[in-house]
Amino acid sequence: MSRTLDSDRSPGAPNDRVAAAQAQPNIALIKYWGKRDVALNLPVVGSLSITLDTLWTRTEVRFSDALDADSIVLNGKSDPKQLKRTSACLDLLRARAGIRTRAAVVSTNNFPTGAGLASSASGFAAMVLAGDAALGLNLTPAEQSVLARRCSGSAARSIFGGYVEWAHGSRADGEDSVATPLLPADAWPLSVAVAITSTAEKAIGSTEGMNRTADTSPYQDAWIDSQEADLAEARAAIAERDFERLADISEHSCLKMHALALAAKPGLLYWNAATVAAMHVVRSLRAQGVPVFFTIDAGPQLKAVCLPSAASRVAAALREVPGVLNVVETGLGGPAHLIPTAAAAAA
Ligand code: DP6
Repeated sequence: MSRTLDSDRSPGAPNDRVAAAQAQPNIALIKYWGKRDVALNLPVVGSLSITLDTLWTRTEVRFSDALDADSIVLNGKSDPKQLKRTSACLDLLRARAGIRTRAAVVSTNNFPTGAGLASSASGFAAMVLAGDAALGLNLTPAEQSVLARRCSGSAARSIFGGYVEWAHGSRADGEDSVATPLLPADAWPLSVAVAITSTAEKAIGSTEGMNRTADTSPYQDAWIDSQEADLAEARAAIAERDFERLADISEHSCLKMHALALAAKPGLLYWNAATVAAMHVVRSLRAQGVPVFFTIDAGPQLKAVCLPSAASRVAAALREVPGVLNVVETGLGGPAHLIPTAAAAAA
């Protein structure tokens, strides 16, 4: 099923195999941090996330006999730094198809890349979907999730929409470390305000940060031992649509992950002054009865998750925080999906 979804306006040779896909970032409420197998990218803990809607990555993958090397253009610029991980992901797709054909990847994010906004999650989820369609692999969503996981762990979750859990799995080959959808986005709509406090790329990426943490943080065992209870609590809160319960357990998981990473040697400090100021603002809103909580990943952006009725108040309060550059408001979104190649080219 090598195909384009509509009139293919991108340049290329007639036998090229091309497709495009869109995926949205997800935000973990119960965090993934640490690997049980680095080569297979298997997590040491399960995690639970929400997939967003208005932030996206659109990616076109073109396999062509005319190419003698893989390439990646990210946000309109050739990006050699991303080439190693891109080629590793393409290799997994090529192995499935039994081919060696090189590919050109063109990817666009409508949000800052590499600053703790999960661009690797949406990026690799979109790449796997597009590559699957271009090569006619007909993978199931679970198989797409396993492949995306190998490219970047959190990408396993961006295959699905709404509330998603990614199991750590117990098999040595990792085939049971796959994400599954828990609840669709519209079953319990939440709003998310992302307070952007820096657009610089982070100094220490998640992979390096979590490996350093596992090697040096004295809290690693406690982190692993307490994760199952946190996941059970979040699952129950979601099943009951209990916002306060979800707020408590999500802030706990976020702060616990950062405490774990802060205790690495040297310590990993992903927050800046505006991040901390925004945390206090969210806490004070909540103390006033506003249904909101924060979560923060391996970067300085703060994500405030709230009931839709509180969204404009939360966003307005975050805009007032000194050092907050911009606030992006979004809701919960659907799964990764194929798009016309022309749409990816125009993104
Ligand atoms: C803090 O998925 O980026 O966002 O698997 O090494 O590519 P790799 O890591 P990545 O880590 C995400 C870590 C996190 C928490 C989370 O998303 O669960």
